[in-house]
Amino acid sequence: MAEELNISKNVSKEQKYQELLPQIEALVFAEADLVANMANVAAAIKMATNYLWVGFYLVKGKELVLGPFQGPIACTRIKKGRGVCGAAWLTKKTQFVPNVDVFPGHIACSSNAKSEIVVPAIKGGKVEFVLDVDSSILNELDKTDVRFFEKVVELL
Ligand code: SME
Repeated sequence: MAEELNISKNVSKEQKYQELLPQIEALVFAEADLVANMANVAAAIKMATNYLWVGFYLVKGKELVLGPFQGPIACTRIKKGRGVCGAAWLTKKTQFVPNVDVFPGHIACSSNAKSEIVVPAIKGGKVEFVLDVDSSILNELDKTDVRFFEKVVELL
């Protein structure tokens, strides 16, 4: 397994993600364990982007429970429909929130989080887990991020 990611510096976000995707694919295809793959994916995205928080919540019974992540400590349990993560679980749709202050019920694990994307992973019609990415810069996340994170979740 490669120990380093190869991502060009000073290139566009699109270019960076184009370089990163096959490397994430190789990491994930080499390992069957979901949690191990989540851990490496969170690390890879964090290294490539330096966003504030990159991680996963897994559906366990009636709650989302914190999984592998990179970034500041976070809330451990989220109920269905609560916050951005709970909304992704309830609606089974990607939640793109450029400004978390205007999202009703946003759960502020970190007061530094300003924008957020949550992508649900759906297997057999049910949400199995969500990928959550927070940025500390207002409007920093965009459709390019949405497309990339959705592709990453498909790989898992
Ligand atoms: N802000 C999320 C909670 C999780 S943290 O951002 C890591 C939410 O509203 O669901």
